[in-house]
Amino acid sequence: MENSDSPEPIRNPQSAIRNLIHRPPFIIHHFATLGSTSDQLKQMTAAPEFTCVIADEQTAGRGRRDRAWHSTPGDGLYLSVLLRPVIPAARISLLSLMCAVVVAETIARYNIAGIDIKWPNDVLVNERKLSGILIEGTSAGSDLPRIIAGLGVNLNHEAFPPELRDTATSLAIESGQRIDAAEFRDQLLMTLAQWYERLRHDGEQAIPERWQALSSYARGRHVTVTLDDEQVTGVTSGLTDTGALRMHLADGTIRTIIAGEITHLRKNAEC
Ligand code: BTN
Repeated sequence: MENSDSPEPIRNPQSAIRNLIHRPPFIIHHFATLGSTSDQLKQMTAAPEFTCVIADEQTAGRGRRDRAWHSTPGDGLYLSVLLRPVIPAARISLLSLMCAVVVAETIARYNIAGIDIKWPNDVLVNERKLSGILIEGTSAGSDLPRIIAGLGVNLNHEAFPPELRDTATSLAIESGQRIDAAEFRDQLLMTLAQWYERLRHDGEQAIPERWQALSSYARGRHVTVTLDDEQVTGVTSGLTDTGALRMHLADGTIRTIIAGEITHLRKNAEC
């Protein structure tokens, strides 16, 4: 990834916390244990925008494609936030990329190398997954959409179960230090507030641009993407302004992928 304009690492956590301005006002509901923070927030039908649900532990944490999200007590940030973006429907998909940028920029403050984003929103460090993001939405008629952004970040895990051992990592493993979860949460929310503001103004340009600067997957990676009913293999060739992934296929055509998952990749691809 390109690192030139990455945020500075936190050198003085206390002053960093003092400088936090929670604008917009995040309302944080903190639970010891929940099934899923996103399910809890979904049930809070009168909650205003920027309501956050956080749990120390999830017993039924959910990931994309009906997978479980490993949510052991006290190890991770399990956070869901309600967003009601005032943007055209076509731009809603930018929220997913925006959240990945927010997580990547927040972890960059811990001065670790090898941060990457795998399309659309897995945040990796040294090719292992450190964070996953689940965007779920509902809209009622002409009302603003209600988007629940569920963010899982592996903070203090020292080890993972066998099925995740080769593919997952945590910020503590990568940085060699224990992570203060409240400080991480505050920094993440502040970064989220800043990017959310940009989403309304120049998001169509700024978010894909920043995502591409942070991701080695943006261009020139030979990948297979699994869609609902097919697999597409080709070489990545940048994002559209709504965050779809362009791929050069072997027959010379360009395919634009709106939703899918990169399931296989080869390094050093040539177009
Ligand atoms: C993925 O990579 O598959 C997405 C994982 C999203 C996990 C987070 S943890 C907070 C929120 N609550 C959930 O049940 N899931 C999301």
